[in-house]
Amino acid sequence: MQNDEGQSGLSIHNIVYCSRAVHQMDKETLEKIISTAKYHNPRFGITGLLVFGSGIFFQWLEGPRDNVTSLFKIISADPRHSNVVLLTDEDEFRERLFPNWDMELVAAEDISVVLEDAMHTVSDPKQKKTLFNMVQELNKSELGKHEKGH
Ligand SMILES: Cc1cc2nc3c(=O)[nH]c(=O)nc-3n(C[C@H](O)[C@H](O)[C@H](O)COP(=O)(O)O)c2cc1C
Repeated sequence: MQNDEGQSGLSIHNIVYCSRAVHQMDKETLEKIISTAKYHNPRFGITGLLVFGSGIFFQWLEGPRDNVTSLFKIISADPRHSNVVLLTDEDEFRERLFPNWDMELVAAEDISVVLEDAMHTVSDPKQKKTLFNMVQELNKSELGKHEKGH
């Protein structure tokens, strides 16, 4: 029953991590990463989002456990970033948070809007809690220290 997780659609594996870009990230490099992700991720049932700001990546991957774990191994070894810090690595019995995003690039300024939007949309308390935790994690990382002009 529970080992059918991928097919049943009840359990979803989540990996959330932060990392530091090795070089200055230009638009082209970011677009290349996203287009690779948009090509591969749907084939593995993976959705999520990638946030970039202040030289820091923050990525949310959700999908079948084995696929998410394998992809994370590949991503971790990518020389375009380093200091990969795993924040979440767990199965949850809930719907996907980002079902329509093969991999969406979100600017750091927009992430709180995206998360707050999602928090209002979801009705599942577990999803709400996950989003809340994500905001907390973001606030702890450098992304949360985005200048607001004062
Ligand atoms: C921050 C970051 C996030 C990435 N996210 C993904 C992803 O979601 N999916 C993916 O397939 N590749 C992602 N990549 C790229 C992979 O590390 C790897 O380069 C790619 O999967 C190799 O694909 P290829 O063999 O078709 O060139 C990411 C890379 C970085 C630096």
